[in-house]
Amino acid sequence: KGKKPLAGRKVLVTAGGTIERLDPVRYITNDSSGKMGFALAEAARDLGADVTLVCARTDGPPPSGVTVVRTPSAGEMLAAVMERLPEMDAVVKAAAVADYRPAERHENKMKKGAETMTLTLVRNPDILQEIGNWRYSDEGNPRRSPFVVGFAAETTDVERHALDKLARKRADLIVANDVSQEGVGFGADSNAVNVYGAEGLVLALDRQSKRRIAERLWQLIADRAGWKPSGGEGV
Ligand code: PMT
Repeated sequence: KGKKPLAGRKVLVTAGGTIERLDPVRYITNDSSGKMGFALAEAARDLGADVTLVCARTDGPPPSGVTVVRTPSAGEMLAAVMERLPEMDAVVKAAAVADYRPAERHENKMKKGAETMTLTLVRNPDILQEIGNWRYSDEGNPRRSPFVVGFAAETTDVERHALDKLARKRADLIVANDVSQEGVGFGADSNAVNVYGAEGLVLALDRQSKRRIAERLWQLIADRAGWKPSGGEGV
C-alpha cells in the first residue's frame, strides 16, 4: 500500500481574523471564523503532513494533532510565519489579516468623553507580500522556498483582483472566494473558490464543504509542487 500523499511534508496554515487592539478591552477585527484554515490544517494532517497552524481569533478550538501557535495581531502573525518559513514545504494563508491597526494602543481602558471621536489607523504589514519579497530577496536568485498559496476575499472583479494579488505578492497560487455570495467565505461551513496560477484559472470548485475544498487544494498543491510520496514502498 502507498504512503499518504503529504507524508514527510511540513506545512504551515494561517487561520482566523487578526485582532488589533485599541485598549485592554477593545479591538478591531473581522468576520473570519477560522473554519477554512482549520479545514486546511485537518486535511493536511489526515494526508500525512506535519502541520503548524498559526491562528488569530477563531470560533471554536483548533483541530487536534497539529502544532498550534496563537498570534492575535497581524504583527505577531508576521513574526511567527517568517520565523518558520525556511523549514516549511508549503505555506497557505487563509487568515483574514487586518490591513490597518489603531495608531495608538492605550495601556488603560479609554474613558468616555466628547460626543465624537476619531480613530487614526495605520497600515499593517502584509504578510503574504513579505513572504513574496523574502523569496526573491537574494539578488534576484529565488531561494529555496516553500510553495506559497494566498487567498483573496473579494466582492467585485474577483478574477482581476486575484491575478493582481498573485503577481504583486509573488505567490504560486491564489485561492479566490467571492464573499458576496451566500454560503461562501466568512463564517460559512462551505466555500466556492477559483484558484489562479501564473497561467490564469487552474481550478474551479463549486460550493462544497470547506473540508472537501481543503482536500482538493492539497491535491493541487502536491501536484504543482511536484511532491511525490517520499521514502516509501508505495508507488
Ligand atoms: O475563516 P472563515 O470564516 O472560514 O472564512 C474564510 C476566509 C473568507 C477568511 C478565507 O477563505 C479567506 O479568503 N481568507 C483571506 C481573507 C483576506 O484577508 O483576503 P485579502 O484579499 O484581504 O488578502 C489576500 C491575502 O493576503 C490573504 O492570503 C491574506 O492572508 C494575505 N494578507 C492580507 C493582508 C495582510 N496585511 N497580510 C496578509 O498576509
